[in-house]
Amino acid sequence: MAKAQAKSNRTTTAKKAQRSAPARKATSRKVTAGRSKASKNENKNGSLLQEFFMDSLKDIYWAEKALTKALPKMSKNATSEELKKAFDQHLEITKGQVERLEQVFEALGEKAQSKKCEAMAGLVEESESIIGETKDDTFTRDAALIMAAQKVEHYEIATYGGLVQLAKTMNKPNVAKMLETTLNEEKEADVLLTKIAEAGINDVATNEEGGESKMSTLKETIMNMFSKNDNEGGEQKSKQGKK
Ligand SMILES: [Fe+2]
Ligand SMILES: [Fe+2]
Repeated sequence: MAKAQAKSNRTTTAKKAQRSAPARKATSRKVTAGRSKASKNENKNGSLLQEFFMDSLKDIYWAEKALTKALPKMSKNATSEELKKAFDQHLEITKGQVERLEQVFEALGEKAQSKKCEAMAGLVEESESIIGETKDDTFTRDAALIMAAQKVEHYEIATYGGLVQLAKTMNKPNVAKMLETTLNEEKEADVLLTKIAEAGINDVATNEEGGESKMSTLKETIMNMFSKNDNEGGEQKSKQGKK
């Protein structure tokens, strides 16, 4: 009886630790024992890291699905054609990422499940407030939307980067490869957003003060800047177009 009670206490404590701070627990231990020893231990008890991995997959699955709803709104409200195009293009890529995650669940023998990702919910909410707080047809809105979108991309890059490493550690090379494909797509999206911002949006937004006549002049200026960039960087742009 006492033995059973002790066992039950141990289980409860383990569950609590797992719920409260698995990451803190992992980092507070010395990790100098070596990779091979670590993976042996993980394979033996398997559950904690595996559960954390599955939880993170559910989180990012929710996040990607939320983005398939957020990106059309961002595109609709963007001012420049370049940014609209980038959001539309990333929407299609994101739909593919949702499907890829379903394949990851399948490869792991699990049902695809999503769990609300509070971080992504906050980032999406931020993009919505930007639309509410900035004027229509301004490049200030575009500059702000680019920043919001890059926060999303950086969150995804951090998540997929971590998941790829965990999949490798857990000896799941196929899963790691699939997640790495998505990781690279997120990195490409981030680079593209920087290029769009640097192509003129940020510069024009600096001088934006409002007023109809001034706005149309600024619009003409930025359209000229983009067509100038098209001519100068034709080769680079065609490379991006192939992606
Ligand atoms: Fe994504
Ligand atoms: Fe993304």
